[in-house]
Amino acid sequence: MPDSTKTVELTIETVTEIKKLRVTRSSNLLEVLIANDISIPHSCGGYGICTTCRIICKEGAEFLGPRTEPELERAEERHFSEVERLACQCELSGSVHILLPSGL
Ligand code: FES
Repeated sequence: MPDSTKTVELTIETVTEIKKLRVTRSSNLLEVLIANDISIPHSCGGYGICTTCRIICKEGAEFLGPRTEPELERAEERHFSEVERLACQCELSGSVHILLPSGL
């Protein structure tokens, strides 16, 4: 059984399904999704440039870490709401529930 002090719950929702994973705290969200075979576009390779890895955080947005400089720039350019984040720029510090706009 995973140590709950070192892991967090990640709930991933699409229009057709919901998946729950237990993942290591402090993991990069995009890396976790890719490692678990969850299809998410990431055209720029995780540098916070392309915005193809955009997700919506439905619960636990405070556990995705602050926006990085590249994400702040993209969020301003594209008028992201508070809950729209770039998976490649998020570090998981607690349990979150995310929605993938592009599907699993
Ligand atoms: S992979 Fe390009 S912004 Fe995240």
